[in-house]
Amino acid sequence: MREPEPQVEAAAGLLREQGLGGPFAYAIVTGTGLGALVRDLQEGISVPYAQIPGFPSPRVSGHGGRLHAGRLAGERVLVFEGRAHAYEAGDAGVMRVPLAVAHALGARSLLLTNASGSLRPEVGPGSLVALTDHINLSGLNPLIGEASDARFVPMVAAYDADLRMHLHAAAAEAGIALHEGIYAWFSGPSFETPAEVRMAGRLGADLVGMSTVPEVILARFYGMRVAALSVVTNLGAGIGDGDPHHDETKAAAARSGDDLARLVSAFVARLSASAP
Ligand code: HPA
Repeated sequence: MREPEPQVEAAAGLLREQGLGGPFAYAIVTGTGLGALVRDLQEGISVPYAQIPGFPSPRVSGHGGRLHAGRLAGERVLVFEGRAHAYEAGDAGVMRVPLAVAHALGARSLLLTNASGSLRPEVGPGSLVALTDHINLSGLNPLIGEASDARFVPMVAAYDADLRMHLHAAAAEAGIALHEGIYAWFSGPSFETPAEVRMAGRLGADLVGMSTVPEVILARFYGMRVAALSVVTNLGAGIGDGDPHHDETKAAAARSGDDLARLVSAFVARLSASAP
């Protein structure tokens, strides 16, 4: 048994007092420039991360830092607008309390979104990709230091096949092209070198990025099913004219925000229609 986490209980208690008590079936984390789907929330209320015990304050431009609760496609969802990254303070477990709170408020399925660089020129900027697996090249893990045997989290089915099937069906319904790919996590915050991008490609990666993987590990630790969607904002360093910059990443992610928001709404609608 894991030790109860006092910060999680404090945060969940505070959110319940503020009317964000749930239960919520689904939680969504939005990555760089991808806060657009918050606009589609109905009956939404929100709280800044800064007011919630144990929540990080994202210090990256393009990341909001607010927790929203509301209805998407009629279903109650929690939306974490903005994430903190391992590279901000060297802590790969920086999103642990938010994800534990999502679980405590009922979320059993988690959708993670991010911006990434593509290693496949045919899957260029603006493309949406459902992650099928990852390669952790960071040397970090959010469960380092976790004492219980629960730390030995199996990762074989980390990206849930059933949720991914619903993502594809939702994309088809919404008329949005959706690719599949494997995501390689580099710690950042510097972008990769061309040699690192070539290495990631030889190891089997389709995308490179600086987030998401620690959240997948934590979500599996808490027993949540995970789906992850990436918005390609650029080609990886050294591929074609790939020379990523953060401003370009934010702008390209924002341009794809509407497609992503439509896809996520269609996804949630399908999940709630298929729930027992
Ligand atoms: N590398 C790492 N992270 C990223 C990239 C990239 O090329 N693009 C968007 N996030």
